[in-house]
Amino acid sequence: MANLIWQNGALKPFEQATTHVMSHALHYGTGVFEGIRAYEQADGTIAVLALKEHIERMFVSADPIAMKIPYTREEVCAAVVATVKANELKSCYIRPLAYYGLPPTKVRVRPDPKTPIEVIVYSYDMGDYLPDVALDVKISDFIRLHPQSTAVGAKICGHYVNSLQALLQISGTKYNELIMLDYEGYVAEGSSDNLFMVKDKVVYTPELGTILTGITRQIVIGLAQDLGYKVVETKIKPEELYTADEVFFTGTAVEVRAAGTINDKTIGNGEEGPITKHLKTEYLKICRGQNPKYNHYLTPVK
Ligand SMILES: Cc1ncc(COP(=O)(O)O)c(C=O)c1O
Repeated sequence: MANLIWQNGALKPFEQATTHVMSHALHYGTGVFEGIRAYEQADGTIAVLALKEHIERMFVSADPIAMKIPYTREEVCAAVVATVKANELKSCYIRPLAYYGLPPTKVRVRPDPKTPIEVIVYSYDMGDYLPDVALDVKISDFIRLHPQSTAVGAKICGHYVNSLQALLQISGTKYNELIMLDYEGYVAEGSSDNLFMVKDKVVYTPELGTILTGITRQIVIGLAQDLGYKVVETKIKPEELYTADEVFFTGTAVEVRAAGTINDKTIGNGEEGPITKHLKTEYLKICRGQNPKYNHYLTPVK
């Protein structure tokens, strides 16, 4: 199977898609990226999920770091489709990235001579990001980035140093995922996913403001409402999670995953709860083109 990366307008073999060691982004984390999935459809074709929404978020993420991506949204979408097609992938994970290249000598990016902006698209067969079980979850000592420190809703490369340090705390332990609180002590999100809680059949999720503007979160909110659940976006205290009937995570990579325990306290009966299961099943139907109402989220790879 081919292993091609789209780099600045052309597909190249993996080994040739290189960048300079003095790239600004390598020194200062000044890039924006996306994590997208494509799914094999019931008829054997491949479709990218929420492609336009992801590329829109990538452009919105670029704003706070004054990055003008040197392609249109449509060109980046086409690059994603071309990369999946060229690699003959079926269900896969796709990583578009735009970053500041040379020169890196100062933090401030330069309009003249312009700090160049490079764009790549990589795709690979990721499989499950987290095991398909009720997860053991730890509330992290690390807090989610402060909204006055950075544009927290944006998917900026440097933000993930925060996630990595939190993840390192649980590596080698029994915990599969973590929850970060925000600067006020409310529940924010996981290391690479948004969080939901179910109590008395009502679905709650942390409001925007300190979390990534998750695209799966948005799809699942709409889906839950369509399925007749009341959804409330609000502030959630960590102790409310312990008495919830169900807690689950959403994200492009993780899809929908239940929390079985949080800080060793059992959530519900410790297994994937009925509403989580319902939403997960229906979400995967959307991904696989089995719910026509949501087909607008699917871009065929032809
Ligand atoms: C920190 C963080 N929160 C939430 C998410 C979920 O976002 P999405 O559903 O757009 O993949 C991700 C994944 O991109 C993430 O990295």
